Amino acid sequence: MTTLSVGIDQISFYTSNFYLDLGVLAERNGIDIGKYHRGIGQEKMGVPAHDEDIVTLAANAADRIVTDEERARISTVLFATETGIDQSKAAGVYVHSLLNLRNDCRVVELKQACYSCTAALQMACALVARNPEQSVLVIAADVARYDLGSAAEPTQGCGAVAMIVKAQPRLLEIHPQVGNYTEDVMDFWRPNYRKTALVDGKFSTKMYLKALINSWDNYQNNGGLPIGSLSRFCYHLPFTQMGKKAHNSLFRHTKDSSQAGLDKDEFDAKLQDTLTYNRIIGNSYSASMFIGLASLLENSQADLAGQHIGFFSYGSGCVAEFFAGTVVAGYEKALFADAHQAMLDARHALSYDEYLDLWHYPDPCEGEVVTMRAGATGKFKLARIYEHKRDYVCC
Ligand code: HMG
Repeated sequence: MTTLSVGIDQISFYTSNFYLDLGVLAERNGIDIGKYHRGIGQEKMGVPAHDEDIVTLAANAADRIVTDEERARISTVLFATETGIDQSKAAGVYVHSLLNLRNDCRVVELKQACYSCTAALQMACALVARNPEQSVLVIAADVARYDLGSAAEPTQGCGAVAMIVKAQPRLLEIHPQVGNYTEDVMDFWRPNYRKTALVDGKFSTKMYLKALINSWDNYQNNGGLPIGSLSRFCYHLPFTQMGKKAHNSLFRHTKDSSQAGLDKDEFDAKLQDTLTYNRIIGNSYSASMFIGLASLLENSQADLAGQHIGFFSYGSGCVAEFFAGTVVAGYEKALFADAHQAMLDARHALSYDEYLDLWHYPDPCEGEVVTMRAGATGKFKLARIYEHKRDYVCC
């Protein structure tokens, strides 16, 4: 029996048209900019406008890939987020409406911190394997917000990624072997009554690395590819230096088991190009690793066709997964590199006061009408909140 090829057919991402240069934050917080640029590996962080949220970020990311042909095939929308806007209604239902998807299409929201998009991707592959005629729209969207003045503040960001998952994909075939690790820990969390995340920062980085090694070992036990067969690595990127720490840690862990022997410089080069976008967008939580994948596919000068890519997905709390995929020949024809670059280039730099003003977003509690101040430049916007309902518009 031949195995059906299932995976990512298209990938598109979106971030706000506003960003704060970390030089501005460093000056304000009295921090040497080297700490942000080299210590955590970040230059800019995306800041959402008042008329933007996970729904508009997601719809703007997905709009590019939901063609009429796809609209007819999409049977399911899986929406991953940890910054949901409602305890009951899935954010994806708004996106379903904004994108005019079919009524016989199911929609559900998934949560487990930054890991949830990987769960969505694996579930999408299983659904497509069951019925190869269908497509599944996988979306991840998040706004990362920490307390002002905290150590985590420079690792904020926002963004969404949308992927079409189908049979005979044009970009990446996802392999069935996975390695998982779950442990009940309090490294990062956000109780329902809080607007910002709580984090035990140093502990969270240790948990991330522990989960990486355990997921890798489990991946090996489950028949995963040996380290030398993986030509690129995409890690969850809360900040790009975390990806480098992870890569070093995996090198140390596997160098003795690698039959071919690993050269450190060659191994380091396998992380190249995955960090480019995240360095200037910031943490987009569930979307972050997949924006790293877009960065790799769109910025690599090397032909990646036929190359195996390793993925490490980490969600605080914590759940982690190592898995791999193979880049499909001709993949470059299905990318949106120019559109993504144009979007990033067109962003507007905020002053510190403008950042503060956007950070304190309007949040009605009593059902009063709040009309959102215009700021977003995307096609979909949050127009107002009234009677506890959200009103989106398409421009
Ligand atoms: P911090 O207080 O900035 O830490 O917090 P630091 O003082 O140790 O500095 C960081 C690095 O900058 C250090 O390097 C310093 O030496 C270096 P390291 O020891 O790490 O190699 N440094 C400098 N380098 C150059 N020039 C200088 C300079 N000064 C210092 N002048 C921390 C850092 C990550 C803890 C903080 O930003 C934080 O709490 N972030 C949020 C939590 C986080 O992102 N955790 C990552 C793992 S958990 C995860 O990824 C999940 C998550 O995405 C959520 C989810 O799953 O939903 C967060």
